[in-house]
Amino acid sequence: MIVFDSNNKVFYLHTKKTTYAMAILEDKALLHAYWGKRLKHELSPDWINDMEFRPLAPLDFGRFSTDMLPLEYSTFGSADLRVPALEAEYGDGSTYTRLEYVDHETVNGKPALCGLPATYAEEGDKTETLIIHLKDSLRDLHVYLSYSVFEELDAIARSARIVNMGECARINRAFSASVDLIGTENADLIHLDGAWVRERSITRRGIVPGNQSIESRNGCSGAVHNPFIAVCDKEATENRGNVYGMSLVYSGNFSAGAELSPFNSARAYIGINPQNFSFVLESGESFQTPEAVLVYSAEGLGGMSRVYHKLYRTRLCRGKYRDIPRSIVLNSWETTYFSFDENTIVQLARDAKKIGVDTMVLDDGWFSTRTTDKAGLGDWWENPDRLPSGLGWLADEVNKLGLKFGLWFEPEMVNMDSELFRNHPDWALHTPGRATTPTRNQITLDFSRKEVCDYIIDSISSILDRANIEYVKWDMNRYMCEVGSSALPAEKQGEVYHRYILGLYHVLETLTSRYPNVLFESCASGGGRFDPGMLYYMPQVWTSDNSDAVDRLRIQYGTSIVYPYSSMSAHISVCPNHTQGRITPFKMRCNVAMPGQLGFELNIGNCTEEEIEMSRETVKKYRELEGVFHNGDLYRLVSPFETDMSVLQFISEDESRVILCIDSQRGLFNGPDQYIKMMALDPDSQYKCGDKTYYGEYLMNFGVHFCNKREHISEMLIFDKIQ
Ligand code: GLA
Repeated sequence: MIVFDSNNKVFYLHTKKTTYAMAILEDKALLHAYWGKRLKHELSPDWINDMEFRPLAPLDFGRFSTDMLPLEYSTFGSADLRVPALEAEYGDGSTYTRLEYVDHETVNGKPALCGLPATYAEEGDKTETLIIHLKDSLRDLHVYLSYSVFEELDAIARSARIVNMGECARINRAFSASVDLIGTENADLIHLDGAWVRERSITRRGIVPGNQSIESRNGCSGAVHNPFIAVCDKEATENRGNVYGMSLVYSGNFSAGAELSPFNSARAYIGINPQNFSFVLESGESFQTPEAVLVYSAEGLGGMSRVYHKLYRTRLCRGKYRDIPRSIVLNSWETTYFSFDENTIVQLARDAKKIGVDTMVLDDGWFSTRTTDKAGLGDWWENPDRLPSGLGWLADEVNKLGLKFGLWFEPEMVNMDSELFRNHPDWALHTPGRATTPTRNQITLDFSRKEVCDYIIDSISSILDRANIEYVKWDMNRYMCEVGSSALPAEKQGEVYHRYILGLYHVLETLTSRYPNVLFESCASGGGRFDPGMLYYMPQVWTSDNSDAVDRLRIQYGTSIVYPYSSMSAHISVCPNHTQGRITPFKMRCNVAMPGQLGFELNIGNCTEEEIEMSRETVKKYRELEGVFHNGDLYRLVSPFETDMSVLQFISEDESRVILCIDSQRGLFNGPDQYIKMMALDPDSQYKCGDKTYYGEYLMNFGVHFCNKREHISEMLIFDKIQ
């Protein structure tokens, strides 16, 4: 609900449990006033007057200084010397922008963001959008701040549109959100960091005076950092305390962080990375920032995650597969790598059928001269030696077995040894006069160019049109460097990274709407581009190239800080694990993969009878439980980052079924008894688990006994409420 108190000039954005407030100061400056638990009453008019006067502060707003004020969208050049949200440069070389309030409007629902992925509202949702118009009168530069309030889902989506009505200007920085959190002494910053095969570990550190930030500079959101931060109370835990989350719906370079001022206010911000970014705006042109999703929770990190999960599952992911059970795939990669022909794939599918898999996915190596990773990327037609009967035939053979057929693509890349590169060397990103450094023998296509996007749309469409392909794995296996576009003039080279992402979004929008029955899965050497932007087009992501069950406990747990398990593709693979050599019991591999989107990277033909039987059982059990894992609420009870165990609890939407996933990374022989205290149950109801029955209050207060006496013990306990 959006309320404007016109006497005191305060905007209140209320969700079920939270309030976000802004105020207009002396008819001019837009201030951030409050973000936290839902308020029943208006703020005291003294909320701003109580602020201490600071000697030496330049008074550029009456008796106030922008350097001290909590600003809603700060600009460079004024007395405010903290990290600005907006930095513009004008024709005369000056860089001072001063924004003042003009007017505002409230609209029902949520307008789409032109060319960008974003959360959305559906008919019947209690979602409203407030658009506040600010203006720099001298430069005729207008900023429209947009706040969509998801009342039921407890989230606010923010973005900014900058419209230049003056002479030519250049935007050098335009964050999506910046929030001055008042009174932020003793707060922590939480973010998700890592590298290839160890994506999204949780980092938590104290916020100290000055600016602390995380960034991506590699052209995509990346495995090193994720476009998300949370600021929280020092005492905040998984289940208690104030947490302020900011997540960016964007897949390119980003910057996010918090700057603590000397007077206890932390400016938390998130948006496109200003480094190597600029955008020229001729008179009449506009720039739309990506969207930042803001979630406040008084119920700790877990409360924040549950809000993101539901919002991203239901109002970010789209299409046919948003709400229905998805495919259980068998992927050929860890099974055959580059050594296969069409008969190998049919045989893999035949064996996969025995365990109940429903989709056979042919990974890398099926096209043009691609028999190793040295050649062929960009040439999207069948390799005639490997697939002499063609993709159409192969898909039909797989279909005849009763399975769907899926295919791997890496559309954004080109091998230098390819027809595409020989014919169009300027279609790759490059800096004039410099060598372009390949990674895995490949360089990046220039998706900022329309003709490149058109070529990719046409090539992929022609494959999807000539074979019955019902699943696509969309891969992207290198970071960008030496970035430049031969299609843009010198003054627009700062636009290339962002235009690349806009090109990618255009290609994805076109293909996903042209092929609504195809389930698209995103991948970037595993989870190197696991972000909300990609989830808008593809509802699931290959979480990591690391399929080892122990490492996956941490990777999936860290990923779940923002993203739902329904978005994490998780496959059962062979041991010793191909990435890191660990041997884990088959049961643990099944149990760890099950809460995600289950699949296999196994040659079932090489499995033992016992493994085949367990795989079959896993598929059956998964089909019975996936609704709880994917649509229910997650409570993280024990962290694999802090202990030798991992315990997750999933509660079904109707609260009738509860699943406890208990896994041991490392055990202690003759170790202590442990009691896992469950959460959010009905204390007075009884829950049946196997042949035992417990009261909710017992499970929550006494707990479920577990002895972590051996490494790699894995238990999945199912509790059904007795009505
Ligand atoms: C990446 C992906 C893998 C596989 C290979 C194929 O590494 O993450 O799953 O598809 O590419 O080359």
